[in-house]
Amino acid sequence: MTASMAASHLLSSSTSLPNILSRPSNQNRFSQNLTFTLKAAAKPPVIRAVLSQNPTTTSSPDSKTSQFQHCFTKSEDGFLHCESLKVQDIMESVERRPFYLYSKPQITRNVEAYKDALEGLRSVIGYAIKANNNLKILEHLRQLGCGAVLVSGNELRLALHAGFDPKRCIFNGNGKILEDLVLAAEAGVFINIDSEFDLENIVAAARIAGKRVNVLLRINPDVDPQVHPYVATGNKNSKFGIRNEKLQWFLDAVKEHPNELKLVGAHCHLGSTITKVDIFKDAAVIMINYIDQIRAQGFEIDYLNIGGGLGIDYYHSGAVLPKPRDLIDTVRELVLSRDLNLIIEPGRSLIANTCCLVNRVTGVKTNGSKNFIVIDGSMAELIRPSLYDAYQHIELVSPAPVDAEITTFDVVGPVCESADFLGKERELPTPAKGTGLVVHDAGAYCMSMASTYNLKMRPPEYWVEDDGTVRKIRHGETFEDHVRFFEGL
Ligand code: LLP
Repeated sequence: MTASMAASHLLSSSTSLPNILSRPSNQNRFSQNLTFTLKAAAKPPVIRAVLSQNPTTTSSPDSKTSQFQHCFTKSEDGFLHCESLKVQDIMESVERRPFYLYSKPQITRNVEAYKDALEGLRSVIGYAIKANNNLKILEHLRQLGCGAVLVSGNELRLALHAGFDPKRCIFNGNGKILEDLVLAAEAGVFINIDSEFDLENIVAAARIAGKRVNVLLRINPDVDPQVHPYVATGNKNSKFGIRNEKLQWFLDAVKEHPNELKLVGAHCHLGSTITKVDIFKDAAVIMINYIDQIRAQGFEIDYLNIGGGLGIDYYHSGAVLPKPRDLIDTVRELVLSRDLNLIIEPGRSLIANTCCLVNRVTGVKTNGSKNFIVIDGSMAELIRPSLYDAYQHIELVSPAPVDAEITTFDVVGPVCESADFLGKERELPTPAKGTGLVVHDAGAYCMSMASTYNLKMRPPEYWVEDDGTVRKIRHGETFEDHVRFFEGL
């Protein structure tokens, strides 16, 4: 499609602007309502099963995992649905765009996949709160039986607020500060020892809190997770964990503090977006070896924590990716052989695919060599593509007009940075102004990493409930929220 064709298509389509565009962005008929009901699609949407296609992979043949049901589906008439609701109808009903849209049933299904996989093992699913810290989602995960993995005092406070059992919570991090450690010691959560100074601080916190702390040693297993360097943590040059050759030093230090520290386990976390379960297996073999060494010195340790990191199918290519069962099956025998309690720390694989960022097209333009779809969402709401060059699948929520040409576009936001893109070189039908456009797999590390750059205030969040109603689960931030930080100074 040429530039002039794109421009003329735009001009001809601009007359079809929905009325909602002429209203101020924060007003519409649902703005006061926290829940509302939309008519379910007359025809049930086609279920897009994420199937394992390649027989040579390690994917489980178990029907429970291979017939995985996903919440976002395109129906035959070309409309995107979240469960049984048209995303377009939701988009036109909510108070402002962009917004995050989740499926509560999908969150449940993702947790159930882990629970099924863990059957027969003593285990804790420690949900990594950093992936998504929406309080309503946390409460739901807690009700489903998850524990929580924390990396700051505020994440700990939020976990307690959401009602998580402290005995199913783990406090991680390479730079935990004393006051947060005191809070963790008082609450009675597990704490991972990350370095010599971290051990000193945990001992100090235990004394201040007057409590003996259950600790795990975070050991760097020196395994290459084969992921983007920014999300790799288990390789030797990472800032996380203790050097494995220093293990004896740490065991001696723990022995010197019997009133403050009780060593209960060993932890590793290799990295994030891992798509080969053999990597977890390699690390588990190394960790079991350390556990044998630690037990040989008289420590009665019970927990092996293999961290999080399982990747998801961001490309929607139907590629064969390991599922929770594949992950757990690679370590099951090792765990059973030592009668261990297995802790896992999933974030992305529990929450990423439950959500889309729903945007509206502001316009289409070209610079002569590149075509751009400009949307109202941006790197402020969703930074992963800009920060990691991450791919997140993009599609329109409604069927394209018959005459819309398929063109290669960069999908960009309105933020004053050339780094502000949500997708590069995407083949899409040329959308009319006002068309809905979603960025998929936005449940993990999207809202939790959102900023207010360019004073684009953080968007509201909604989920589709089990009964098909839409509920707001977080208010959008407003200009007034920003101004409040300066009151009374
Ligand atoms: N446990 C520890 C110690 C971690 O550091 C992390 C993530 C997890 C568990 C959860 O990993 P997951 O299952 O979600 O992969 N912002 C990046 C991801 C950073 C992950 C940091 N650590 C992104 O957007 O891809």
